[in-house]
Amino acid sequence: MAFRNTPDSFGLITRVLHWAMALLVLTMLALGLRISDMEPGLSNLWLYGLHKTLGFGVLTLIVLRLGWHLISPVPKPIGPPGLAQLAARAGHILFYVLLIAIPISGWAGSSATGIDVMIADRWVVQPIAEVSEAGEAFWFSVHEVLTKILIGLIIVHMLAALKRELAGDGTLRRMIRGRV
Ligand code: HEM
Ligand code: HEM
Repeated sequence: MAFRNTPDSFGLITRVLHWAMALLVLTMLALGLRISDMEPGLSNLWLYGLHKTLGFGVLTLIVLRLGWHLISPVPKPIGPPGLAQLAARAGHILFYVLLIAIPISGWAGSSATGIDVMIADRWVVQPIAEVSEAGEAFWFSVHEVLTKILIGLIIVHMLAALKRELAGDGTLRRMIRGRV
């Protein structure tokens, strides 16, 4: 079984990272939208804790994924070079930027509340913003805007993958089983 990518196939590590992250990010979006509709209280504090813990999980996975990309570059795009390929590449880069900026903005907003930011209710994470109501409002609005952009990008990404698969070029198959 090939763990590494080759010039025309996705290895197991990239595929596992891609689908694990897709699942985690969709869960995080649902969880985030749920908590932003709630009044924080003792009964739902655990949901905030879960959102923060999984958010640090996304940040860790994205760093691992970027590292793995350097060790094992992704395969060549399928099909002739053109605008669609450039757009796909730009979309993939935007995913990386958002998936680093979103957890950091959530971390900064949570730091600005003055409440300890914790992972798994166990480890206190260093605050990255001063405690202030203005800072809290600013960072959470950045978090919200970036998550809306992410939702739009995921929809376009999924539709593009499905469209290409329906056209029969094997793009989706390659991300599922490695090769076309
Ligand atoms: C990729 C990772 C993350 C995703 C996809 C995500 C997604 C979201 C979404 C969609 C919302 C609702 C925004 C709104 O409509 O108002 C939200 C809210 C929130 N997020 Fe995240 N988040 C992530 C990481 C984090 C991290 C790492 C933290 C903190 C350490 C965090 C803390 C919060 C908090 C406290 C709220 C509630 C804000 C409020 O009450 O308005 N998030 N998140
Ligand atoms: C929801 C979060 C998702 C994120 C953050 C995401 C991110 C990415 C990124 C960054 C790449 C570029 C390859 C890489 O860097 O490993 C990629 C490729 C790909 N993704 Fe996703 N993806 C998500 C969900 C999905 C879903 C739901 C589908 C299926 C409908 C999908 C289908 C694909 C396919 C087929 C490729 C390969 C594209 C190519 O060969 O050019 N992705 N994805």
